[in-house]
Amino acid sequence: MTKPAILICRAIFPEVVEQLSQHFTVESNQADASWSTEELQQRLQGKVGAFMTGTDKVNAALLSGCPDLKICANMSVGYNNFDLPAMTAAGVLGTNAPDVLTETTADFGFALLMATARRVTESEHFLRAGKWTHWRYDLFAGAEVHGTTLGIIGMGRIGQAIARRAALGFGMQVIYHNRSRLDAATEDSIKARFVGKEELLKTADHVMLVLPYSASSHHTIGAAELALMKPTATLINLARGGIVDDAALAEALRTQRIAAAGLDVFEGEPSVNPALLTVPNVVLTPHIASATIGTRRAMAALAVDNLVGFFLHHKPVTALNP
Ligand code: DGY
Repeated sequence: MTKPAILICRAIFPEVVEQLSQHFTVESNQADASWSTEELQQRLQGKVGAFMTGTDKVNAALLSGCPDLKICANMSVGYNNFDLPAMTAAGVLGTNAPDVLTETTADFGFALLMATARRVTESEHFLRAGKWTHWRYDLFAGAEVHGTTLGIIGMGRIGQAIARRAALGFGMQVIYHNRSRLDAATEDSIKARFVGKEELLKTADHVMLVLPYSASSHHTIGAAELALMKPTATLINLARGGIVDDAALAEALRTQRIAAAGLDVFEGEPSVNPALLTVPNVVLTPHIASATIGTRRAMAALAVDNLVGFFLHHKPVTALNP
């Protein structure tokens, strides 16, 4: 029997290609970059499935030229690269990779929070530049983390994993804002209190963003929201570029309207707003919150399971638009 043809849209672990090749005829992108829409469309000719990452965009324009496509399996939990209504209209299933990256991403949330509050990269640059000549009582004095108030915006699985670390590990008071309030038992187990967005911004010492990107979460944090925050506060964006107005944030950092920020995601990444590169009080990382080899393998394995589940058992594991 002929194997169904699928496309692997980015370079990936060799064992993923081997596993998929057992069930499918595989064409894979060997370049270290995403294909353009035109090239992706051309490569998808005759393909029934695609193994994708969050950088591969699927929209009506692409789908109009891919009549054979049945499923796009993302190896990321975020799926703002998918236009789901357009996919549903075209009869194309989307799947994502939730759960397997939750704890790793929450760990990184704390890495970024600690690095930002305690000025880790700024002080390292100072040392590497040969500027460390003597001890000083206030040298790179940063903000306290333990015992402070953490405000989490977006309280899904990752938000809850961060809340647990904050309350149990760092003795923080956790407040959160989310589209819907958690049930009392869950709030109690993660020791988090629901508040309005304005109250969160005004009272949190550290604000962490872990909400999904959509048209309604675009610029959740802009100049008006930054103006509500404490001047000593830090802002951490682990979620998606576009949730923060990066130009407004750069200005708030430059004028010290807020103390510092830690950003793993950016509007228009991999481009970074040049103004962010000029301010010292920001820690910048290239979208690596889920990047441990174990977790990236698990994310890829879930995308494989979705493709195999869909074609061999008519049962994808984590369907977004079944
Ligand atoms: C995700 O899974 O959404 C992470 O941001 C990695 O892309």
